[in-house]
Amino acid sequence: MAATINILGIAGSLRKDSLNRSLLRAAVELAPEGMAITTFDLLEVPLYNGDVEADGDPEGVARFKQAIREADGVLMVTPEYNHGVPGVMKNAVDWASRPPRTAALTGKPVALMGASPGITGTARGQSQLRQAFEFTNSYCMPQPEVLVFSALDKFDASGNLTDERTRGNVTKFLVAFEAWVRRFV
Ligand code: FNR
Repeated sequence: MAATINILGIAGSLRKDSLNRSLLRAAVELAPEGMAITTFDLLEVPLYNGDVEADGDPEGVARFKQAIREADGVLMVTPEYNHGVPGVMKNAVDWASRPPRTAALTGKPVALMGASPGITGTARGQSQLRQAFEFTNSYCMPQPEVLVFSALDKFDASGNLTDERTRGNVTKFLVAFEAWVRRFV
């Protein structure tokens, strides 16, 4: 068994002061000893276009898919837009779902977290994103969940996760994700 599992972390918001980017940064810090999280910026991934794909993956997409293939698991940290998964995250999943059955996401362990200023903490967006993994045959961890609600109260002005309870939840979540990933690697 590998001493350290390698996780690729992606945030579904492109905003520099994004709560979800901040939450991903907290996860990098709080990862257990047996887990290393590296991040990939979805700014590099253009909108999915089957014509472009037919001519060969754009450089950013090729790098993204390769990063997923090299990782033991993927941590997706996403906002919720209009009760669903934002286009930035769904678009990245769509690219990484291709070609079907041999895609970078095929058989890959995945976990979801999210932060929102509202009271539901991205619950509906995460539920919707989970459905995609039925098609990609990815192993999305069912529990525990990290739904960071009222998130503006939980990060400081520099985007550091300061709420102790949330830090504890993220830590427990990552310990569970390590165990989840080790079932498959
Ligand atoms: C939102 N927001 C939002 N929040 C929520 O909890 N449920 C929702 O359905 C929506 N819908 C929504 C739609 C659109 C188009 C935007 C721009 C925003 C608010 C959202 O949670 C908030 O802007 C977060 O700060 C976005 O995440 P980042 O960018 O901070 O990571």
